[in-house]
Amino acid sequence: MSQTEPIPRNYFDHNATSPLRPRVRQALREALEFGGWGNPSSVHASGRKASRMVEEAREKVARSLRGDPRRITFTSGATEANHAGITSLAREAKRQHRMVILASPLEHPSVLGCLVGLERQGFKIVWSELNDHGAPKDGSLEDLASLDKELGFAVCMAANNETGALQPWVRWARDGERLGIPVHIDGTQLWRKWSSPPDLPKLGNWVLSAHKQGALSGVGAIYSSGVSLEGWLGDGPQERTRRGGTENLLGILSLGEVSELPLDDHSQIDLTVIERTLGRIPGVKSSIPLTLRLPNTLHLRLPVRTDLVVQRLDLAGYAVSSGSACSSGSVKPSSVLLAMGWGPEEARQGLRISSGWTNTQEEVQELADALQEILEG
Ligand SMILES: Cc1ncc(COP(=O)(O)O)c(C=O)c1O
Repeated sequence: MSQTEPIPRNYFDHNATSPLRPRVRQALREALEFGGWGNPSSVHASGRKASRMVEEAREKVARSLRGDPRRITFTSGATEANHAGITSLAREAKRQHRMVILASPLEHPSVLGCLVGLERQGFKIVWSELNDHGAPKDGSLEDLASLDKELGFAVCMAANNETGALQPWVRWARDGERLGIPVHIDGTQLWRKWSSPPDLPKLGNWVLSAHKQGALSGVGAIYSSGVSLEGWLGDGPQERTRRGGTENLLGILSLGEVSELPLDDHSQIDLTVIERTLGRIPGVKSSIPLTLRLPNTLHLRLPVRTDLVVQRLDLAGYAVSSGSACSSGSVKPSSVLLAMGWGPEEARQGLRISSGWTNTQEEVQELADALQEILEG
């Protein structure tokens, strides 16, 4: 068996999952070979070794955030971290009789699902108004806090997974700190894609996920600051009693590894080539301006349904994504695009291209040409 796996070619779906990085693969191999199987709670040597691996990874993640390692709790991914962070904030808000939550309709389903559950428990969700670029209006938190004294906390993603649109999380985090309103930030798509560590909220949470950066799936973390994270998986001493259950040792190790890699700032990859190549085709339009989106994400509106385009590109060897989910054989329009005011048919015409560590500029041009051929053919 070969020791080095080939780097996948023409993979442009890094916002879904980024392929395993060679450095992670190497670290996992070494860990498996040299005893990466212990239980971090055991007191004997293999347990102590496993515990050291977990704590070293925690420190690496903390350095990537420029934060305190003690504030980090490992989870099974961003979905669990979102649930844990939001329900902890809700418990505290309920104690204070502050039953209003500000959130954006563009959030990831893991956040929306959690908010719907809280609504059933009597919370009122105020959905922020959106601007023309796929993000909540900037001053939403300040405006609502001045109107509604029952505002308990706010939820804002850092960047949208589907369109790449940057969200006003920095402003919300600062407004929240000044007004004493915690902010839960889903940083899953921004972490390690930005040119510097994120500005962590002084009051609230920051969530991240390993597999978006080329580590294993099924592991993530929540950084919690100024508010206590209540245990959500009880009956275990792990993670300072916040999350019971034996730690996902290899997953956590892989998360630590990607925390130390050079930032994925995409300065070598220019996706605007695709916009320029397709610019002459009527009905093709970029959804979010370059300066207002993640540099690795290009979201296009096409003049045709994108599930068919995604299938044709797949046959040609390219992996891209339409934001629409396919369920029971029918294609549901993307909820993000609907929330942005696109009609139901238009919301089936969005195409997401997301680049990452595997890509070259040559591949980008080839993808642009393949798309042009499909759309003009
Ligand atoms: C913005 C955002 N939040 C949360 C998640 C869920 O992450 P995980 O797969 O680690 O549960 C994703 C994954 O697609 C995401 O893009």
